[in-house]
Amino acid sequence: MNINVKIGDLRTEAVDAIVLSVFEGQELISGPQAADEATNGGIRELIDAGDFKGEHKQTSLLYTRGAITAPRIGLVGLGKRADFDIEKARQAVGKIVKELRDLGVNTVAIPFPPESPSEMVEATVEASVLALYEFNQHKTQDLDAVKTLESVTLLVENEASRSAVEDSAGVGETIAKGANLARDLSNQPPNHLTPTLLAEKAQEVASETGLKCEVFDLAQLQEKGFRTLVGVSQGSQEEPRFIILEHTPENEGRDTVVFVGKGITFDSGGLSLKSGSGMMDMKHDMSGAAAVLGAMQAVGQLKPDLHVVGLIAASENLPSGTAQRPGDVVKSYGGKTIEILNTDAEGRLVLADALGYAAHYSPKVVVDLATLTGAVVTALGHFACGMLGTDDDLMGKLRAAAQKTHERVWQLPLWDDYDEMLKSKVADVKNIGDGTAGTIAGAAFLKQFAEDYPWVHLDIAGTAWDVEGSSYIPKGATGYGARLLVQLVRDWAS
Ligand code: BES
Ligand code: MN
Ligand code: ZN
Repeated sequence: MNINVKIGDLRTEAVDAIVLSVFEGQELISGPQAADEATNGGIRELIDAGDFKGEHKQTSLLYTRGAITAPRIGLVGLGKRADFDIEKARQAVGKIVKELRDLGVNTVAIPFPPESPSEMVEATVEASVLALYEFNQHKTQDLDAVKTLESVTLLVENEASRSAVEDSAGVGETIAKGANLARDLSNQPPNHLTPTLLAEKAQEVASETGLKCEVFDLAQLQEKGFRTLVGVSQGSQEEPRFIILEHTPENEGRDTVVFVGKGITFDSGGLSLKSGSGMMDMKHDMSGAAAVLGAMQAVGQLKPDLHVVGLIAASENLPSGTAQRPGDVVKSYGGKTIEILNTDAEGRLVLADALGYAAHYSPKVVVDLATLTGAVVTALGHFACGMLGTDDDLMGKLRAAAQKTHERVWQLPLWDDYDEMLKSKVADVKNIGDGTAGTIAGAAFLKQFAEDYPWVHLDIAGTAWDVEGSSYIPKGATGYGARLLVQLVRDWAS
């Protein structure tokens, strides 16, 4: 799908549909006003008849019968003006563009009056790109039934507003494509996305965007002491990979922000085997990695004035004669020993090495994203990730970014009291707690390995997959976190 910005008039634009948004119970503004006049009161008629009220996400279709060039006007409600926010706009845009796509419409145009806020332009483009996302890579049949919208054109009135709208549209598109990359990766079947293939994808993204990329293979990981990452992978025929992506700004002396992603390309639980239903969707256990890679793609394109590093610990978690056993003791990259009592708590193991490695950058902050615990789904469902960490300021920054992207975060406590349950009889720490507070236990474990810098952990097991009720988030992978990380970077660099 293409996004264009063009000087034009909604009355003469040759597209399949013009999209207009209307507030509930308000006078028509600008675009709708002009369209109403051009259609001899067509929009007013719908409103006066009570057929279209402008309620949030309400849609209505008007056939223009030659009154304007486009044969259709798609109306969408923004709800009451007093309740309006940017997420309401995303939801509305997502709803109408999908409905038009499903009708078979190929081209739409959305008018933007002069002085349109950049957030509105960004949100419109972002919602369009996110809502129209589909994962059809592995279908070979009925592909002609798949409908695609070819282009969304943002119509502006003059040269002066064109460049501003173009800039915002470009940013929105870049960020949404980063999130869609994350979705593609999480949706990808595990035989099509092994750690090796994930690393190749990272290299591809890096060479396209100008990021630096380094990948450690098994021999290098063994040599460098990534023992917990190697340990998780040792039941599998597939080698692990450690992926480093780096954006270096032109200016020297800028802050360093490190993102860390859990990249388990399939989690069977290992010898602590999951049930069939518990395993079914575990191809998406690399959604933290996907968010980091998606965000880094956008960072590589937006080139913020900030040093940004993305680290991905990628492995499979499978049972076999060579698999790690419950009871094994393994030394992490940083030197602490871990007693592994449940091989299904593997995410925290691969992250232990990654968090240890992150210290090399002397980062201002480190944020990790991981589909770490089923317990976070029990606690928060699918509408917010669990946020835990050692730095209130960073949590505040993430909360502010989440407010803007609507990828919500919710803090859980990480008091030292929780460390007690991780004490091991034979090693420095064990990889499971006592069965209470599962999400906090996971974070309390990670905290032992994130000692040298301000750190926040986002447990995205609930938000990365199968979120319902949003017009721009499809079933399956959500791409959660990619936009959030980019927002954090943008807020930091500005
Ligand atoms: N990948 C899972 C967590 C998960 C569960 C992600 C559901 C997405 C949806 C993780 O590796 C895991 O198995 N966690 C265990 C931890 C336990 C053994 C301490 C869990 O949550 O049961
Ligand atoms: Mn697991
Ligand atoms: Zn896992």
